Amino acid sequence: VNYRHIFHAGNFADAFKHIVLIALIESLKNKDAPFCYLDTHAGCAQYDLDSESAKKTHEYRTGVGRIFKQKNFPRLVQTYVDCIREINPDDTLHFYPGSPHFVRQLLRPQDHMILSELHATDFKTLKKHYHEDKQVATHHQDGWLSLKAFLPPKERRGLVLIDPPYEDPTEFFSVAEKIQPALKRFETGVFALWYPMKSNIARNPFYRDVKKLITRPTLFVEISFWPEDGGASLHGSGMLIINPPWTLDTTLREILPWLWQTLSPHRQGEWKIF
Ligand SMILES: C[S@@+](CC[C@H](N)C(=O)[O-])C[C@H]1O[C@@H](n2cnc3c(N)ncnc32)[C@H](O)[C@@H]1O
Repeated sequence: VNYRHIFHAGNFADAFKHIVLIALIESLKNKDAPFCYLDTHAGCAQYDLDSESAKKTHEYRTGVGRIFKQKNFPRLVQTYVDCIREINPDDTLHFYPGSPHFVRQLLRPQDHMILSELHATDFKTLKKHYHEDKQVATHHQDGWLSLKAFLPPKERRGLVLIDPPYEDPTEFFSVAEKIQPALKRFETGVFALWYPMKSNIARNPFYRDVKKLITRPTLFVEISFWPEDGGASLHGSGMLIINPPWTLDTTLREILPWLWQTLSPHRQGEWKIF
């Protein structure tokens, strides 16, 4: 594993992903029954935006940095901002939470989370962060194997976040195939897969495979900030939600216009749900 998320923490793709993640967790909390959250590519629990690595790219400025400058937020974005404020008590952005940390702050006493991370250093940080936490299990394991190892969860309800680094671009073309058996094991589970929108990686084969292999209901949510052929290396990002909660579509349609306007420097790109 060469990929290091510290270079990208808090960028527009992270902000979008984490807001959708919060929407999904909030909808699971509509029922009292416990749920399990499985994060297959968990990363670290939090990222130091003042570190040399983060300062090399300053990517967070185009994501969470823009959101933090606003005064009023739609309800779910307010929850997102509150989670970030919790680790930045002086109200200045020093740290950015990873997906595990957003979810941890929203868990109820009856809920659990399972985190797998393959990078040795990132895993060590993750483990240290949660080692005394009875609601969190951390595993130094390949995320794709964790789909086999931990599904279905004993709660029989839950959310699986699949957030691979796509270091090898061909990984994009096998994701539907890899998710299909996991979905067989946990048919009613909510699955959320993050994917990049890059002009040099065609998405049509991915959409086609999902339609062919995934027989449960799906929702694609995409947001972009540059035109598809505008030359940006990452012009947007998407989330594939399998078994989306029935209110998710409406909830996201209320938030995405605000998010797109806040994060779009040149009013380019668009948001889409289909
Ligand atoms: C995009 S980052 C995850 C970010 C995190 N989910 C978040 O939203 O804060 C991808 C992570 O996957 C890890 N990784 C790479 N290959 C992996 C694999 N096969 N299994 C598990 N983790 C892997 C990387 O070390 C990196 O921390």
